Amino acid sequence: MEKYYISDLQSYVGQEVRIGGWVVNKRSSKGIEFLILRDGTGFVQSIVDEKVVGEEIYTTAKRLTQESSVQITGKVVKDERQIGGVELQVTDINLICLNNDNYPITNKAHGVEFLMNKRHLWLRSKKQWAIMRVRNSIIYAIHNFFQKEGFMQMDAPMFTGNASEGTTTLFETEFYDRPAYLTQSGQLYGEAMAMAMGRIYTFGPTFRAEKSKTRRHLSEFWMIEPEMAFFTNDDNMDIIEKFIKSVISEVIDRCNLELNVLGRDIEHLRKIATGDFPRITYDEAVEILKNKKAVNGITSLELLGNDKKQLEERINVVKNEISERETALEDKNIKKNKRNFIQNKIDTFKNELKSLEEKLSHIPEYTKRIEEFEYGEDFGGADETIITRMFSLPVMVYNWPKDIKAFYMKRAEDNDNLVKGIDVLAPEGYGEIVGGSERETDLEVLLNRIHEHNLPQEVFEWYLDLRRYGSVPHSGFGLGLERFVSWITDTKHIRETIPFPRMYGRLEP
Ligand code: 4AD
Ligand code: MG
Repeated sequence: MEKYYISDLQSYVGQEVRIGGWVVNKRSSKGIEFLILRDGTGFVQSIVDEKVVGEEIYTTAKRLTQESSVQITGKVVKDERQIGGVELQVTDINLICLNNDNYPITNKAHGVEFLMNKRHLWLRSKKQWAIMRVRNSIIYAIHNFFQKEGFMQMDAPMFTGNASEGTTTLFETEFYDRPAYLTQSGQLYGEAMAMAMGRIYTFGPTFRAEKSKTRRHLSEFWMIEPEMAFFTNDDNMDIIEKFIKSVISEVIDRCNLELNVLGRDIEHLRKIATGDFPRITYDEAVEILKNKKAVNGITSLELLGNDKKQLEERINVVKNEISERETALEDKNIKKNKRNFIQNKIDTFKNELKSLEEKLSHIPEYTKRIEEFEYGEDFGGADETIITRMFSLPVMVYNWPKDIKAFYMKRAEDNDNLVKGIDVLAPEGYGEIVGGSERETDLEVLLNRIHEHNLPQEVFEWYLDLRRYGSVPHSGFGLGLERFVSWITDTKHIRETIPFPRMYGRLEP
């Protein structure tokens, strides 16, 4: 039999189709069962009317439990109120698997640790579904961008003999009785491939032994690493900006439904896709952070002051909204529907209150950073949040102190203490999503850097060959896929942006 999918049903209005799926939810009313089905492509309400299907099928519908699997035949009917614009008038049900046990994930709130342990099932939930769909579209848009630009995708090895991003986060393993490491970045191989192919990008898993639990660090994450011959760091920044905007535009087009499910403000994303990303040096970023330089007439401490005031005002408004509704609920005569409606509103306001209070609680910590940050330090999460808050667009920070950056970055022409690195900081607290640089091409300087970083020269001999033979100016960058998905989907914790996260303290499921 022909296969139909929920996302296509709009094209089959008036026709009878059969879809395979799972029961998300069920609600009954005299002689009618309303099933919400999902099939991975979308969600559809399906109506089982005893008068239409007869007693046997109706009884089957009544027995269905959450996440039981079925094949359902029905007529597609237009209904603008439904998410996909259609619903199904069921004519037949083929029960595939009736769940006996209670499905572990219900509508009530579960703790994150519980959900993480049930990740194999949690992936079926609507929010996770939406995040994974956006992730897929991001991946698609990334390939689209680079292929259209004329880049070639090439793959770097996972087993390596050398570190590229410092030795503290290496996962050591064994390779036929020799010590080896899981790759932290495909970049060094990317450079070799760019010298062979001109412009390339790698797209693969990378590994970092980050021994801390943060909301931005995974031990295994996917990275897109373009590398371009004959590119300066300015060319690099141009293409990074074009790339990010292009991917966001395409995701807005492809993922309207998913972004709505996630409550993402699409207009906000559109502004980013059409705005000009500010480009500032590390020195300027420090001045802005340290309250020494205003952006659009406002300094960092003034901005925090305004934020604090606005948050406090909104918190008061929200608290009033909640207490008014809680008072309304004390009335015993309220109908069940109305009661549920009010309770939902209260829950929504309580969620907002929680997030407002969390934002407010960070302000003292930010103020402290503004006082205590010292020139030469790397930016931490709080610093990045403050800097991007000043612009509300992604900020490109370039020319960094060499001591906090990798050995391969090219020194700045006018200052031997600076290197031509570039970090892109995403707004709304998401922080660094891209790290890149122009690469050092001078053999002597590069050898010095390798020694300064206490790296063993032997394992880099092949890399040094790239400077010995036909060396050219070149640049590249790395975009962390999951950091990017977090930001675009507004998912605070990175663990929800990859199907099966690997991070400190988590190897299962
Ligand atoms: O800034 P990083 O360390 O740069 C590199 O690896 C360069 N070799 C890239 C290049 O120039 N080809 O990492 C690049 C990006 C970061 O900006 C961040 O988005 C992501 O990779 N990233 C992580 N994402 C999740 N978990 C981690 N532990 C990450 N570490 C880096
Ligand atoms: Mg970095």
